[in-house]
Amino acid sequence: MFSLEKIIRPNVLKMKAYSSARDEFKGAASVFLDANENSLGSLAGDNYNRYPDPHQKQLKKRIAELKGVRPEQIFLGNGSDEAIDLLFRMVCRPGQDTMLHLPPTYGMYEVSANLNDVALEAVQLTPDFQIPVEEVLLSIRPTTKLIFICSPNNPTGNLIEAGSIETILRSFDGLAVIDEAYADFADNPSWTTRLHEFPNLVVLQTFSKAWGMAGLRLGLAFAAAEIIAVMDKIKPPYNINQATQDLALQALAHTEALQDMLEEIRQERDLLLHALPQLDTVVKVYPSQANFILVKVKDANGLYNYLLDKGIVVRNRSSLAGCEGCLRITIGTLEENQKLLQAIGEF
Ligand SMILES: Cc1ncc(COP(=O)(O)O)c(C=O)c1O
Repeated sequence: MFSLEKIIRPNVLKMKAYSSARDEFKGAASVFLDANENSLGSLAGDNYNRYPDPHQKQLKKRIAELKGVRPEQIFLGNGSDEAIDLLFRMVCRPGQDTMLHLPPTYGMYEVSANLNDVALEAVQLTPDFQIPVEEVLLSIRPTTKLIFICSPNNPTGNLIEAGSIETILRSFDGLAVIDEAYADFADNPSWTTRLHEFPNLVVLQTFSKAWGMAGLRLGLAFAAAEIIAVMDKIKPPYNINQATQDLALQALAHTEALQDMLEEIRQERDLLLHALPQLDTVVKVYPSQANFILVKVKDANGLYNYLLDKGIVVRNRSSLAGCEGCLRITIGTLEENQKLLQAIGEF
């Protein structure tokens, strides 16, 4: 049976959050002399002399409406990479606990594990990039606190079968983290719609991909309110800066424009999925539910360097087990995709 208290690090359970100046003050005031800010103003513009809301109340309220969850079920991080790191620090005792991930997958799970001195169990995805569920269940140890499942998976682009994820969620007493950085490009509904079913489910999303805000650094974690409360307790108090909060609120007012952009990216993805297999050097194009395509080619290093010479940067994934001979290509604009196809055709 999952119990958050049982898996949280004892020091985290015991500690108190930093109490910021604005946390201690309740009520209305017009003179703020409590936080050692510059009262004269800011050279960067209005309001930036003040610390941002550490609880990001306005932003969470708006995101909650959009995603159909409660604000208490939302954590906001300085990119989802911050949420990944905090999850380690929340439940994994350095040098004792372990994490399980499913390569080929996103590299930050391993980097965060290494940084936090957490041993890492890797179960390779099957050749069609699905989870070998039995093997995962057999690999879970009493020290396994986190399992990272990336869906749509980076760098392979496919969704992970819901049945496999559900089996893991039901069998695992640690936190099962589903990284949905690319969910906006996918056909299936988000796992956030099933939060009420699984007390050990954490869903990660980000504003870096579909929302086009990678430069602002805003990531999200959705989970039961009790999990989010602990993440909030251990985060740096002002982790989401004021500019990011302001600009994200502005962007969230334009959900129709987001849908238009998503539609265009999906159309461009379909064009590439159709055009790439017709090129001589292309061996296989994997299906994609993301804004990138994994492509197996005859000479990955050769093509990668050739494209670089032409000023086109793609991601060379050919040294990853399971992705031999593969390049990962982000969907670009119409013009960029045409340049890419032409260059590959000339290789
Ligand atoms: C699967 C996955 N998760 C998380 C991230 C990081 O997102 P963020 O920009 O929110 O830190 C990426 C970025 O490439 C990603 O591919």
